[in-house]
Amino acid sequence: MKKDLGVVPAVFPMPVLMIGTYDADGVPDVMNAAWGTICDMDKVALCLGEHQTTKNIAQTGAFTVAIADAAHVKEADFFGIASAGKMADKFARSGMTAVKSTRVNAPIVEEFPLTMECTLLEQVRTESVEMVIGKIVNVVADECVLDEKGKVDAEKLGAISFDQFGKNYLTMGAKIAGAWKAGVPLMQD
Ligand SMILES: Cc1cc2nc3c(=O)[nH]c(=O)nc-3n(C[C@H](O)[C@H](O)[C@H](O)COP(=O)(O)O)c2cc1C
Repeated sequence: MKKDLGVVPAVFPMPVLMIGTYDADGVPDVMNAAWGTICDMDKVALCLGEHQTTKNIAQTGAFTVAIADAAHVKEADFFGIASAGKMADKFARSGMTAVKSTRVNAPIVEEFPLTMECTLLEQVRTESVEMVIGKIVNVVADECVLDEKGKVDAEKLGAISFDQFGKNYLTMGAKIAGAWKAGVPLMQD
C-alpha cells in the first residue's frame, strides 16, 4: 500500500558538496551545498540562495567543489550553518587548511579528498532559485583515494550523503553491482 506524501523534495541520495571561494579581500569561505550535481562531463550545476559564497562566485568567477567525507562531517555541517557574512572568521574556526588553486581563483581545502576546480560559466536566475553552472578545469585527489590505475575508488573516498527526509548525513554503502552490467541479463531474448 502506497501513501501520498504531498510535495517533498524526494531525490535521494543528495551529495554533500563543499563550495570553496574567496571574498573580495581574498578570505577563504566554504559552504555546504546539497542541491548540486554534475550536468555534463565537464560541468557542475549548483542551486544557490543569497549567500556570501554566491557573491564571491559572482566577483571572482571561480569556485571549487569538494566531496565531504565522514572524517570531516562536523566541519562540513558547520560550513552549512555558519555564514561568512555574519562570522568573519568562519573558515579559520573550522581549523581546516585552504590552499590557493593554481588553476582558478578559489581555495582548495587540503583535508577533503577530492576537489573539482571550476570557473563560472553561467549564473541563471529563475523565479525562485539561482543556478550556478561551472566548468570543471581540473580535479585534484589525494593519492589514498585512488586505485592502482589512478582512478578514484569510490569506496576509499569515505563520502557522505545528505538525507533530506530525516535531515541527517549518511555514509555510503559498499559496491553491489557494476553499472551498465547488472541489467545485461535482461537484455537477452
Ligand atoms: C546539509 C546542508 C545542505 C545545504 N545545501 C545548500 C544548497 O544546496 N544551496 C544553498 O543555497 N544553501 C545550502 N545550504 C545552506 C548554506 O550552506 C548556508 O546558508 C551557509 O551558511 C552559507 O555560507 P556562506 O554565507 O558563508 O556562503 C545547506 C546547508 C546544509 C546544512
